[in-house]
Amino acid sequence: VTSHRATVAEINLNNLIDNYRYLKSCLGEKSFFCPMIKANAYGHGAVAVAKALTSVGAENLGVALLEEALELRQAGIKANIFLFGVFASEAAKVIIENQITPVVSEWHQLDSLASVGKSGYPVHIKFDTGMHRLGFSPDQTEELIEFFSRSNALTLKGVCTHLFLSDDLLEPTGTAMKQLSIFEKIWLRFAPFDVQVHALNSGGIINALKFHREGKIHSSLPAYLGGRPGISLYGANPFEGASNSLKPVMTIKSNLVKIQRIKAGEGVSYGHRWTASRDSFIGVVPIGYGDGFHRAHSNKAQLLWRGQKVSVIGTVCMDYLIVDLTSAFEGLKLIADKIDPLHEEVVLLGQDKDGNVLRAEDLGHAIGTIPYEIFTNVGSRVPREYIMTEKGI
Ligand SMILES: Cc1ncc(COP(=O)(O)O)c(C=O)c1O
Repeated sequence: VTSHRATVAEINLNNLIDNYRYLKSCLGEKSFFCPMIKANAYGHGAVAVAKALTSVGAENLGVALLEEALELRQAGIKANIFLFGVFASEAAKVIIENQITPVVSEWHQLDSLASVGKSGYPVHIKFDTGMHRLGFSPDQTEELIEFFSRSNALTLKGVCTHLFLSDDLLEPTGTAMKQLSIFEKIWLRFAPFDVQVHALNSGGIINALKFHREGKIHSSLPAYLGGRPGISLYGANPFEGASNSLKPVMTIKSNLVKIQRIKAGEGVSYGHRWTASRDSFIGVVPIGYGDGFHRAHSNKAQLLWRGQKVSVIGTVCMDYLIVDLTSAFEGLKLIADKIDPLHEEVVLLGQDKDGNVLRAEDLGHAIGTIPYEIFTNVGSRVPREYIMTEKGI
């Protein structure tokens, strides 16, 4: 459907590629590297992101659901697609038919894959070293070695785990190092299978770079330990104080649909949860919680208009929110009658034309959530527009 909306999410694939290259350079050249593009590439559009990344050499892509993997295959993506979610036994045939590499956490997954009857089908297995979400227990290591030594149907190609806290990776006695020490004992047992080894999420990858730069040596963090970056690819920092080498990828922008004057004492939006303390200029922006702009941002978020920060006032509605333009009007010495609201761009997330940035981290922080949720909540009503200028792509 052709979009007639001024509200769009502009996805800068050049910045995505820059982030990808930066993150890849944090790890050893030969280590396993798998950009995570689950949940519609964290809201950025899985197929477009997959095409951009594979065009610059990405060999692996990670998803949570089989449906996500199939969407990529149907769009013609040829890269290795790693399926991290637990799937039902009936799905094994579809997985194998579509050449998707399962990252297995349960025995029933191994059994159902083996029963399809293919020979030497590649799988990775996941160990639970402390997250207590998915993965085999470390005490199942010997049983799994036995299984793969005997299996003709399946070939073990990789072993992985997931960190529950990557912030403290630089501390030798931190939780991340504890998990990696447990994991190290496991992967060393699997060495005869010539497996790929991966554990690091965005926080782990960024910390690993610092770790290696500082010349620290720790056997649990060898140069070949692989990573699976998610949030950092999309330009958000996984933790405070993390690298600012990441570039914002998503910019949500819109145009005002209306500017109006209200008098001191008048209220705005549902419930009049904001009342003008002086005669004010207010603007109406056509985006709301039906687009994933959280209602919790009522009276909280700030947007960019003409290079100025303007505040969301009153309750965010399903299709609209309202901003206070009064200070910006004063600061910019504007005359209301001379402004055509429909040509007034507003930036809700990301970067405006002058390079001012509203980070997903800050938008999330204001309402007690994380950039992951800010990105993944951007709804399907917001058309994604892709920018890509890199040569040869
Ligand atoms: C198994 C696995 N690996 C890697 C990631 C990427 O994590 P992040 O977005 O923090 O880099 C995720 C995301 O939750 C995940 O579930």
